[in-house]
Amino acid sequence: MAQHILIADDTAAIREVLREALTDEGYEVSEASTGEEVLAVFNGGGSGPDLALMDIRMPGKDGLDVLRSLRASRESELPVIVMTAFGSASTAIEAMKLGAFDYIAKPFELEEVTVAVGRFFERQDLSDRVVRLIAESTRDEILIGDSLAMQAIYKTVGRVARSDATVLVSGETGTGKELVATVLHRNSTYSSGPLIKVNCAALPETLLESELFGHEKGAFTGAVAQRKGRFELANKGTIFLDEVGEMTLATQKKLLRVLQEREFERVGGTNSIKVDTRVVAATNKDLPREIEAGNFREDLYYRLNVIAIDLPPLRDRSGDIPLLVEHFLHKHRYGRGSGPARISQEAMNRLLSHDWPGNVRELENTVERAVIMARGGIIAEEHITFPGQEARRTVDVTQAIADGATLDAFLRDMESRFLREALRQAGGNESVAANLSGLDAKEMRQRLRRSEADDLN
Ligand SMILES: Nc1ncnc2c1ncn2[C@@H]1O[C@H](COP(=O)(O)OP(=O)(O)OP(=O)(O)O)[C@@H](O)[C@H]1O
Ligand SMILES: [Mg+2]
Repeated sequence: MAQHILIADDTAAIREVLREALTDEGYEVSEASTGEEVLAVFNGGGSGPDLALMDIRMPGKDGLDVLRSLRASRESELPVIVMTAFGSASTAIEAMKLGAFDYIAKPFELEEVTVAVGRFFERQDLSDRVVRLIAESTRDEILIGDSLAMQAIYKTVGRVARSDATVLVSGETGTGKELVATVLHRNSTYSSGPLIKVNCAALPETLLESELFGHEKGAFTGAVAQRKGRFELANKGTIFLDEVGEMTLATQKKLLRVLQEREFERVGGTNSIKVDTRVVAATNKDLPREIEAGNFREDLYYRLNVIAIDLPPLRDRSGDIPLLVEHFLHKHRYGRGSGPARISQEAMNRLLSHDWPGNVRELENTVERAVIMARGGIIAEEHITFPGQEARRTVDVTQAIADGATLDAFLRDMESRFLREALRQAGGNESVAANLSGLDAKEMRQRLRRSEADDLN
């Protein structure tokens, strides 16, 4: 079904031009020439338009009035792109604050309009999908991504969930190993039982063994009472052995026996305890290499690695970043009752070009931080910070000359900082930033590209 766009402008010629361009793009188009009409279309029952392209200056209720009214009846984002005359930056900023999706300065190139419209529907699509995914599962346990690599993972998870086979999940830090283990458990025949997690790296050998297998009273100093281990607690459920590559060889041997015989003794005990437990292990180590180095038992490796799930690093599936970002914007709201924050294209580009050594966890932290830095408003490029980034420097002309900077280089550096700050204040919208900087949109873009190129050198 074609998307429905409402064009609201009091000038018939502009409506005409936009109608033609948008119809050509395959949209269904209707028109309005006053603010009152726009409100009537939105509030007139039915589903209303999917998007309105609205002029700010209209007779009667103007665009800002319309945004205010719409805002009163809806939360956060409005499906509205506003158009306003060049030079009225404050109006544009006001419109964005009121929740307009984007802003286009008149006079505009038709391409600017179709790009902004396309971007709106793309984002809408991502957002719809995330909302659907959230509705389908428990919130924190969704695996996001539809890259081929992730699709292969879903298939494996689906296939093995119903068996009791042991699974070894591997992948770099932050790639979602624990999340995969959780999803596996939730979808398995063991899902009515508990999911017990043990971090094998967190405890020294003796404590880990008593943690896993339990102990009898008096088994060692401090064992004042009998205690059940994690394997016992995980009976009829799943035990998740995180960082299994950190186990000592002695503990590995005991684990091997549990996997082979499905029974064990508590530390200091003689009675064998039988368990029916699904085992999922995870590691960010290259276990075959650890085997060669003599740090990991080969026989244990084969017992654990019955089913292998190897999670790809995020840099190898960067196409999943927009959907992941949308997911994290839904997950990490600015305040209770706030809607998901929005992100500018520039900020998204920055996320897309980072190489994510910390993988999905790093992306999640970055988005969460950006939401806070932007105070729940639109996330701009400046709100995207990576650890270790150089802090903002102050201007020191004396030092610059002492450092041998040319006037040209110095000015370019200033210009670059000025433009970024303008972008930040404009909520990431280039046209608004251009207005703030006294430039037209085209010149703004050129200068930004040039300063980006400078930064790369
Ligand atoms: N595919 C994904 N979809 C949605 N969220 C994800 C995905 N992968 C990871 N996450 C999120 O990223 C964070 C880190 O994931 P997780 O703890 O599972 O990684 P890990 O591989 O166990 O990391 P580590 O090796 O550091 O222990 C979690 O908040 C998790 O929910
Ligand atoms: Mg983990």
